[in-house]
Amino acid sequence: CQASVAADRVPDMAKRKTLNLLLLGALSLPTAGMLVPYGAFLAPPGSGGGGGGTPAKDALGNDILAAEWVKVHGPGDRTLTQGLKGDPTYLVVESDKTIATYGINAVCTHLGCVVPFNKAENKFICPCHGSQYNNQGKVVRGPAPLSLALAHADIIDGKVIFVPWVETDFRTGENPWWA
Ligand code: FES
Repeated sequence: CQASVAADRVPDMAKRKTLNLLLLGALSLPTAGMLVPYGAFLAPPGSGGGGGGTPAKDALGNDILAAEWVKVHGPGDRTLTQGLKGDPTYLVVESDKTIATYGINAVCTHLGCVVPFNKAENKFICPCHGSQYNNQGKVVRGPAPLSLALAHADIIDGKVIFVPWVETDFRTGENPWWA
């Protein structure tokens, strides 16, 4: 009978729709993720505040407003943000509650683990092979061969903007190995 066939199809169609939605979701997720770096390539160099700056992003992907940040992050705080080229980068709050003019790239110079900040020790300690960096990211114990990379943390229109650090590394007095 026709009626019962049609009725039988209803749950089927509903299932198929759900499946399609799930598929679409699975496909569009990576697509959305790819838009960010792609967009960054399209932006002409220097358009982001002189010298290829990139707004720092918080864990939710929102631009970081300096005034809001220091309300939540106290003196001495080092919290991971998204930095240049998407690299995990620590934003540093100085003892006078201002954001430091430099951010610290969290990628270990040994084999690339993300290095957490150890508050009690006031150091960055790599969980992978035990390299240590002081609270400015200067290497103090191997096997890491080099200090953590720096980025300028400028504040433009209230937002934190990371800009490539190409000058002398103030911690070592040497040319930056990452530039
Ligand atoms: Fe950090 Fe090896 S990756 S110590």
